[in-house]
Amino acid sequence: MRSLQLLALCILSPVTAYAFPGTLLERESDLLAAYDYVVIGGGTSGLVVANRLTENASKTVLVVESGQILNGDEEFNDIMIPGTTSFTETRFTWNITSLPNAELNNQTRTVVSPWIVGGGTALNGMVYDRGSKRDYNDWAEYVGDKGWGWDSLLPYFKKAETFTPPSAEQQGWGIRWDEDAHGSDGPINSSYPTFLYPHNQVFMQAEKALGIPIVKDQANGDPIGSYWTPNSLNPEGKVRSYAKNYHEIAKSRPNYHLITGRTVTKINIKNGKATGVQFSTARGAALTTITAKCEVILAAGGVHSPRLLQLSGIGDSQLLKRFSIPVHVDLPGVGSNYQDHSGIMLAYNMTLNPDPAWLTSNATYRQEMLELYLRNRTGPFTIGYAQRLSFYALPMITPGYESLLSAAAADPHSHLRDGTHPTVLAGFRKQKRILIASFATNESAVDENVITFASVQRPLSRGYVEIVSADPFDLPAVDWRTLSNPLDRGILVAGLRFARRIMARPELAAWNAVETSPGPQVTGDEELLVWIRQTMTPTFFHSSCSCPMGKREEGGVVDAKLRVYGVKGLRIVDASVFPMIPATHISGTVYAVAERAADLVKETW
Ligand SMILES: Cc1cc2nc3c(=O)[nH]c(=O)nc-3n(C[C@H](O)[C@H](O)[C@H](O)COP(=O)(O)OP(=O)(O)OC[C@H]3O[C@@H](n4cnc5c(N)ncnc54)[C@H](O)[C@@H]3O)c2cc1C
Ligand SMILES: *[C@@H]1O[C@H](CO)[C@@H](O)[C@H](O)[C@H]1NC(C)=O
Ligand SMILES: *[C@@H]1O[C@H](CO)[C@@H](O)[C@H](O)[C@H]1NC(C)=O
Ligand SMILES: *[C@@H]1O[C@H](CO)[C@@H](O)[C@H](O)[C@H]1NC(C)=O
Ligand SMILES: *[C@@H]1O[C@H](CO)[C@@H](O)[C@H](O)[C@H]1NC(C)=O
Ligand SMILES: *[C@@H]1O[C@H](CO)[C@@H](O)[C@H](O)[C@H]1NC(C)=O
Ligand SMILES: *[C@@H]1O[C@H](CO)[C@@H](O)[C@H](O)[C@H]1NC(C)=O
Ligand SMILES: *[C@@H]1O[C@H](CO)[C@@H](O)[C@H](O)[C@H]1NC(C)=O
Ligand SMILES: *[C@@H]1O[C@H](CO)[C@@H](O)[C@H](O)[C@H]1NC(C)=O
Repeated sequence: MRSLQLLALCILSPVTAYAFPGTLLERESDLLAAYDYVVIGGGTSGLVVANRLTENASKTVLVVESGQILNGDEEFNDIMIPGTTSFTETRFTWNITSLPNAELNNQTRTVVSPWIVGGGTALNGMVYDRGSKRDYNDWAEYVGDKGWGWDSLLPYFKKAETFTPPSAEQQGWGIRWDEDAHGSDGPINSSYPTFLYPHNQVFMQAEKALGIPIVKDQANGDPIGSYWTPNSLNPEGKVRSYAKNYHEIAKSRPNYHLITGRTVTKINIKNGKATGVQFSTARGAALTTITAKCEVILAAGGVHSPRLLQLSGIGDSQLLKRFSIPVHVDLPGVGSNYQDHSGIMLAYNMTLNPDPAWLTSNATYRQEMLELYLRNRTGPFTIGYAQRLSFYALPMITPGYESLLSAAAADPHSHLRDGTHPTVLAGFRKQKRILIASFATNESAVDENVITFASVQRPLSRGYVEIVSADPFDLPAVDWRTLSNPLDRGILVAGLRFARRIMARPELAAWNAVETSPGPQVTGDEELLVWIRQTMTPTFFHSSCSCPMGKREEGGVVDAKLRVYGVKGLRIVDASVFPMIPATHISGTVYAVAERAADLVKETW
């Protein structure tokens, strides 16, 4: 049975006499002609899977990454210092501008899409958290496979992680932890920043007074409430810990190759099987073809994975025909179902001491704190995006939640894009049923608040990613379609009202907070929406769900084992396979999904 499976999956070829150097390759001439596995994208998920597959010395793996690899001083200066994280730096991203967002006054925004070894975890805010049990159990229900539920995923969350518990001082701030929820020998360090902004403790008191739970440890599947979040932070040296660590472990293995600065232009498909890839350094440059004897593994992320499928003839046949791309698989789900988190911040004049805003408003302070970090590895630069987060369930923030939900549930209109394929529509209807059931509980968050913030954590709005030509160097069209579903609008407005209720609490009196935008006089739904449409951000940089797992007749692109429908030897392992975005910053979930994906590949050995 096993060997039959192997025969069916892998092309057998004579053992090569090539001396396999097992390292970062510079030239095409250093590559083998064929590998067991070719991984497209050396970002977060791609490096996880390549690392795990090369644990078996008899399997050869090539990773092809379009961006560059950073090492040494360049790496330290550009990406390793937590507090210097910039969400707008373009040197390490693809430069994609979104389509006009119809519900946001047709505004366009940058679709931040990583272009570097390590992918999103090289650039991200280092918040290292997890969604709730229910978020993942909803996946399992949607896909019809318990393997994607919380109990099955927890070991994979842990497998990626080396956790450092809070120090005595940090415990004194109020940080508690649950040892069982954490990993102790994974490649990614998880630890708490060492600088305290005391206003976080005060904020938690105000939340508690309004019935918000104080979470013991977000990692254990019950993160609804307010908590101290670990960062993907190496406690030695207080530097970023990111997916490149998986490469660092793999690079001494003789069966692992990584080549950078090479953009995959197409997945080759022959007789219903993915046979390899072709890539080049730039538009018009020579193409190199590499054979994958067992599988091609797509890990190009939420924007580029659907794009590459479409370029390779897997997608909605109407779209492919428009650009004269031969159709290998008519799969309308490809590029549909695109999701991200979105949100908005109320602006306040207030007195915090110290205030995180000083780092941007006061150049002298910023320089002093940066020097403190460089000299002593302490101070606010040890924190990435945040040290404390709040995730609220709908019943916690709005007493009127039942009418909000029953209106959404009864609404016969899907609010999807015109011309949505019936299979995609069927999948959406199922997602909506599952989501609305979760929204009526305190087991899953709908809103993340970072003090004066409100957001849409489990959206019903659905965007899309689409090629605009058959040229692999033309960037795709990306439309978030933010707030296209009215329930998302209702939840965002409810979140803002709740954020205001917290700000009005007596616990925060010493902040002297005065709302400056939109201003306390703006209270009605419609007035708030006018401000929201002009001001909100459609992205937390969490591109996902654009090649969802699910049943094919429900718009699924991959099955529960992450295999692309209609073609053999092709799997997707990145954030694009999520069916519904969980209520969390997603890197932890990307690591867990990729860790499990590697085991799914290993099942075929
Ligand atoms: C600015 C930013 C801030 C974020 N903040 C946080 C945070 O604080 N906490 C958190 O948990 N999450 C955060 N995230 C999200 C998280 O880091 C990402 O969702 C995650 O890293 C995505 O992993 P992935 O494997 O799906 O894709 P990626 O990590 O994006 O990897 C895809 C890789 O594929 C490569 N690629 C694409 N197309 C091709 C091609 N044709 N040929 C070759 N290579 C190709 C890309 O260059 C890229 O390196 C943030 C993300 C960003 C961008
Ligand atoms: C490694 O791969 C070989 C060949 O496919 C297989 O027989 C063996 O079981 C694998 N080892 C492990 C530990 O998975
Ligand atoms: C994006 O733009 C920046 C700044 O111009 C550039 O350095 C970078 O190479 C561009 N990225 C890609 C993928 O072309
Ligand atoms: C957005 O653009 C569409 C198409 O051009 C147009 O019909 C619509 O009126 C515009 N909306 C706003 C708010 O400007
Ligand atoms: C950080 O993680 C690495 C594994 O990548 C581990 O070897 C190291 O001990 C960790 N550091 C600490 C302080 O836990
Ligand atoms: C949810 O939690 C709140 C406390 O924040 C409580 O008032 C409410 O009854 C709970 N609702 C449900 C459905 O559990
Ligand atoms: C800016 O920071 C410096 C150094 O910490 C401090 O002395 C100064 O008062 C600050 N300026 C303002 C306007 O707050
Ligand atoms: C420098 O680091 C030490 C050890 O972590 C710490 O005790 C001390 O307070 C730091 N100095 C400053 C000025 O923060
Ligand atoms: C906010 O603070 C600024 C600077 O201190 C001040 O000019 C402005 O009037 C304040 N706005 C409100 C609404 O209090």
